[in-house]
Amino acid sequence: MPKTTAGSTYQGQEPASLSSAEIAAELRALFDAAVDAIIVADRSGVIAEFNRAAERLFGYAADDVLGKPLTMLMPEPDRSLHDGYIESFLRTGEAKIIGIGREVQALRADGTTIPIALSVGEIEGGRERRFIGLIRDLSAQRAAEQEAHQLQNRLAHVGRISLMGEMAAGLAHELNQPLSAIVNYSQAGRRLGERDAPESTTLAECYEKITAQAMRAGHIIDKLRDFLRKDEPTKANLEINDLVLSTLQLVEADARADGIPIQTKLVDGLPPVAGDLIQLQQVLLNLTRNAVDAMRDSPGKDQGIMIATGFAGAGEVQVSVTDHGPGVAPQLVESIFLPFVTTKRQGLGVGLAISRTIIRAHNGELFCRRNPAGGAVFGFKLPAQEREESSG
Ligand SMILES: Nc1ncnc2c1ncn2[C@@H]1O[C@H](COP(=O)(O)OP(=O)(O)OP(=O)(O)O)[C@@H](O)[C@H]1O
Ligand SMILES: [Mg+2]
Repeated sequence: MPKTTAGSTYQGQEPASLSSAEIAAELRALFDAAVDAIIVADRSGVIAEFNRAAERLFGYAADDVLGKPLTMLMPEPDRSLHDGYIESFLRTGEAKIIGIGREVQALRADGTTIPIALSVGEIEGGRERRFIGLIRDLSAQRAAEQEAHQLQNRLAHVGRISLMGEMAAGLAHELNQPLSAIVNYSQAGRRLGERDAPESTTLAECYEKITAQAMRAGHIIDKLRDFLRKDEPTKANLEINDLVLSTLQLVEADARADGIPIQTKLVDGLPPVAGDLIQLQQVLLNLTRNAVDAMRDSPGKDQGIMIATGFAGAGEVQVSVTDHGPGVAPQLVESIFLPFVTTKRQGLGVGLAISRTIIRAHNGELFCRRNPAGGAVFGFKLPAQEREESSG
């Protein structure tokens, strides 16, 4: 058992100083027992120490790297920039990484790169200045994050498919309208054509109406197809009012089938938000779908649903969906955003849980309030983005 000069000493034993050989042996053991990789380099960036964990992480034996430049462990562009970093630090004392720590890429012996957390300290007071780097492998953590991210997106996609399943009746109805109109105009056109001298203007009007109705039907199908696509989410600057308007057709199809009117109140001049249009549409649809469900048998049905946009707190914008249904059941208030919480016979209870996951991934907040006029207000807040200067 080694005795230490600092800290506690054992009762009944004389404190004794360690010889420098013993201190060196202790340090060596500590150095090699560390879970993190540790590398010591001199001021010209030559590797002077390389512990066991570093051997495992980089795939080199210490003997292969001692005396070699540190840059052999870095991929480009750090490799080319590194000597400049040390030189500028020694000259100005201004640290880019020392005492700060950050995530960088490491180059392993087999040529692969891995993400690492690197923190660097300076060893002062020796014969020359040396640097000590502590390195932690982040690949498992990054892989787990990546997997969680993919699962979230897959869940969101499954949520969209299930949402469309629920809305199928309303959508079928919505598609049926232009199709019936097309049939009517075609029949009218045929009757006109059977006349000896049909007026060309009325016939042209017929064709125009048929085209318009076919385009309307096509538009709904395009929206549906976009909505069900399985793309990786993107983060683009979006206008929150456009988000509402682009979802309105699907929302209205759903609400109209139940005879529930939808109104909008969109504030002009709102800053944009950063996000994925399809995923945010999905949240809005989940909220309006719930509002439709809540109002279907409610006496307040005629008052309809209000979708509003506006400023939230400082630097935030929001979208809210106000209904005049019965409001959220008191026993649900605490748990409403958790998965599989539902009061509906046909419900899975995942709409709000998926919505919250999406909104959190956008650094926003999903909220639920009581509507003072009776009913519920659900909505989400998102951080506002700087508007990009339009060029020209
Ligand atoms: N606007 C609302 N008014 C009253 N209650 C609501 C409202 N929105 C949601 N709820 C309540 O919250 C529960 C959970 O909603 P959520 O959207 O997560 O699941 P669901 O609608 O039941 O099922 P799913 O969305 O999976 O089809 C609902 O069952 C309902 O009881
Ligand atoms: Mg729902």
